[in-house]
Amino acid sequence: MKKEDFKAVQVCEHVYWVGAIDWSIRNFHGYLTNRGTTYNSYIVLADKITLIDTVKAPFKDELQARISSLIDPKEISIIISNHSEMDHSGCLPGIIDLVKPERIFASVMGVKALAHHFNIDSEITAVKDGDTISLGNMNITFIETRMLHWPDSMFSYLSDEKVLFSQDGFGMHIASSERFTDEIDEHILTDEAAKYFANILLPYSNLIPKVMEKVEKSGIDIGIVAPDHGPVWRTEADIKKILDLYVSWSEQKPLKKAVVIYDTMWQSTDLMARSICEGLEEGGINVKLMPLSSVHRSDVATEILNAGAIVVGSPTINNNMFPTVADIMSYLKGLKPKNLIGAAFGSYGWSGEAVGQIENILREMKVDIVSEGVKIKYVPDSETILKCNKLGKHIAEKLNNINQ
Ligand code: FEO
Repeated sequence: MKKEDFKAVQVCEHVYWVGAIDWSIRNFHGYLTNRGTTYNSYIVLADKITLIDTVKAPFKDELQARISSLIDPKEISIIISNHSEMDHSGCLPGIIDLVKPERIFASVMGVKALAHHFNIDSEITAVKDGDTISLGNMNITFIETRMLHWPDSMFSYLSDEKVLFSQDGFGMHIASSERFTDEIDEHILTDEAAKYFANILLPYSNLIPKVMEKVEKSGIDIGIVAPDHGPVWRTEADIKKILDLYVSWSEQKPLKKAVVIYDTMWQSTDLMARSICEGLEEGGINVKLMPLSSVHRSDVATEILNAGAIVVGSPTINNNMFPTVADIMSYLKGLKPKNLIGAAFGSYGWSGEAVGQIENILREMKVDIVSEGVKIKYVPDSETILKCNKLGKHIAEKLNNINQ
């Protein structure tokens, strides 16, 4: 593409999207972004023209070209960094050199994080929760959202046009020609927003109701939600929907759904998984069977978001759980899902440590282990297959009781 092909997109009267579309990314630090992503930046055409967040470093030319389609970049007076992770700050040093803004603002922790990343803290003014800055004819107020999902994270609110710039919050990884949620299929939106929440925000889900309450109490009227990834939310119905989903996902009320995660060497653990799956289904539970040979860890995390049970299986290899199972257990433990019951299972040849190792991690995750793990030597026979089926039925019974 030629630079002239990159255009700013109007979001509302004085706000323009000037971000970059990353059509090819599929691995976002371990998250499978199979629809690509966008890095969103916004220009506010106030008396003091303001740039909110930048983009990942390799996309600087695209950002600059979109800004240039609207204004001379040197006209930018203020830069706000809502989040210092490098997908949003990678271009910041280069853009500062280019536009030489009068002021740069970030949260207190943002100033520190940007110093560690780029050694540019002396040029940045720290703002606190509730601070308001004047852009001349408009105002921006800052809302600290510490640990959602980095210590520096904050929202910026442009009261004059009711725009909440929400950095990673309410974002999703979708590369698309469409810039607004009302232009995209709602199932894709819900799936990708859930995947984003499960893989990025879940560890901090206890903080989300507090942030929601703070925003509600501050009385701010949200007309547009402009995140740093994916499309902009601009209709009342869409904004209500994503706010409600965030409340629901942060609660993680367990549904009658079990996720059975496993890998297998010679199909014995696979046979066990299928039998457990049958037992769960016979008990009235919706099951997602997730063989790690063909599903990605970020999709497993998404399925866990509204599940009530997690059942994990692994063969034992060299006295350990299978490497793919170790990977998913480490990943899920870090995401800290809540309100789960669970159990472990697996085939083994002579030592059989994997089931106990999985149970230890499940305990560390505060999963309520409702049944002793099922271990089967070498290849399951009809009796041991029945044992797996019973494990599934037992978990189903427990889950049904929780959901009464
Ligand atoms: Fe999109 Fe936390 O960076």
